[in-house]
Amino acid sequence: MDRIRIVGGNKLAGSIPISGAKNAALPLMIASLLTDDTLTLENVPHLADVEQLIRILGNHGVDYSVNGRREKQQEGYSRTITFSARNIVDTTAPYELVSKMRASFWVIGPLLARMGEAKVSLPGGCAIGTRPVDLFLEGLQALGADIDVDTGYVIAKTRNGRLVGNRYVFPKVSVGATHVLMMAASLAKGETVLENAAREPEIVNLAECLNAMGAKISGAGTATITIDGVEALSGARVRVIPDRIETGTYAMAVAMTGGDVVLEGARPDLLQTALDIISQTGAEITQTNSGIRVRRNGAGISPVDVTTAPFPAFPTDLQAQFMGLMTMAKGKSRITETIFENRFMHVQELARLGAHITLSGQTAIVDGVAKLKGAPVMATDLRASVSLVIAGLAAEGETTVNRVYHLDRGFERLEEKLSGCGAEIERISG
Ligand code: UD1
Repeated sequence: MDRIRIVGGNKLAGSIPISGAKNAALPLMIASLLTDDTLTLENVPHLADVEQLIRILGNHGVDYSVNGRREKQQEGYSRTITFSARNIVDTTAPYELVSKMRASFWVIGPLLARMGEAKVSLPGGCAIGTRPVDLFLEGLQALGADIDVDTGYVIAKTRNGRLVGNRYVFPKVSVGATHVLMMAASLAKGETVLENAAREPEIVNLAECLNAMGAKISGAGTATITIDGVEALSGARVRVIPDRIETGTYAMAVAMTGGDVVLEGARPDLLQTALDIISQTGAEITQTNSGIRVRRNGAGISPVDVTTAPFPAFPTDLQAQFMGLMTMAKGKSRITETIFENRFMHVQELARLGAHITLSGQTAIVDGVAKLKGAPVMATDLRASVSLVIAGLAAEGETTVNRVYHLDRGFERLEEKLSGCGAEIERISG
């Protein structure tokens, strides 16, 4: 198993290309199931989760071709990929494939809408809470689907071959369920209104994609999304938005080590709340022609309290990284997690580097220390693992992050991007 070795203490300086967003690429790829035409996606990051979803889609009969050269300079390392679901050969998504990645459960929406049936294993994914699928099932039922759960599988069928538009109010904001219902309703008969929908930028990117395919969706990015169902969707060419979590992660890395880095291709509007918070910690953040510039020189890190919540609030996917930053703040900060109940697994590992953190329910109280000291640590989930990298960059001496496969799910060539800015970081294979 690969490890990452870091020798901390270097300031970061230079530029980091921001890749296409994993969390936008995945639903866009899944949308290819909705049409027998080709869907071309630009700026798809090269990540383990993307490769895994290509395998899952392939099982349903989706062909793909990687037809872009790597646009290394300007666009990170992301690729252009064309998907074609001319013939759906199988409407079952088996446990062996779905259990590796939660988002693959989302194929249930397009399969059901286009084929009238889907049998999809209950999902796996990061171990950051129970993460049920009740909202997906309730929402699809509202669109007229019959749903059974049997031996670990969800079996969904339409009644007369087609879903039927309806009003559905999400009892809780869910990114995945919003994606799925938006895709399903695109091919339903009549109008669907989704209320209390997720407002994340990835939802907007999916709506843009579906509209480019001929769907009639309005309101994406607000809490009420209206979808006027159409009979069929066509092909399109769509660009994946830059990854706001990768952007925030590197911004926090610079805020922690000090230095001056331009995050090339990053869009501030995708993570304004997080950028405001990072500024409050003492980093200077400015928008440039090519992205976002982050600087911190001299001054220490100020403690700031943070509570995660759905977009546009502070994202749960940056909570672990922010805790990494706060471990070296000049004082106490409180970090409250409201999205996932078990998302503090990085606390024990940060403590191995010398961090002082106490947990009280869903709140972590971080008492900043003057210095961290390198140690071997274990990555436990995707975002937790990168918080250990950030802390390692600022810690004195050597940190080894084990179980790097978590990182490879969501961060494209992390060690290359960071070493390009002066960090001493390398991957050790085997
Ligand atoms: C997506 C993101 C993930 C991010 C999360 C929250 C992708 C691939 N993943 O995950 O990185 O951390 O949004 O921003 O885009 N819930 C239910 N019932 C359901 C569905 C969800 O109770 O049927 C709960 C979840 O357990 C969680 C909360 O709702 O507590 C939010 O989850 P959700 O927004 O659905 O997260 P994901 O779409 O899985």
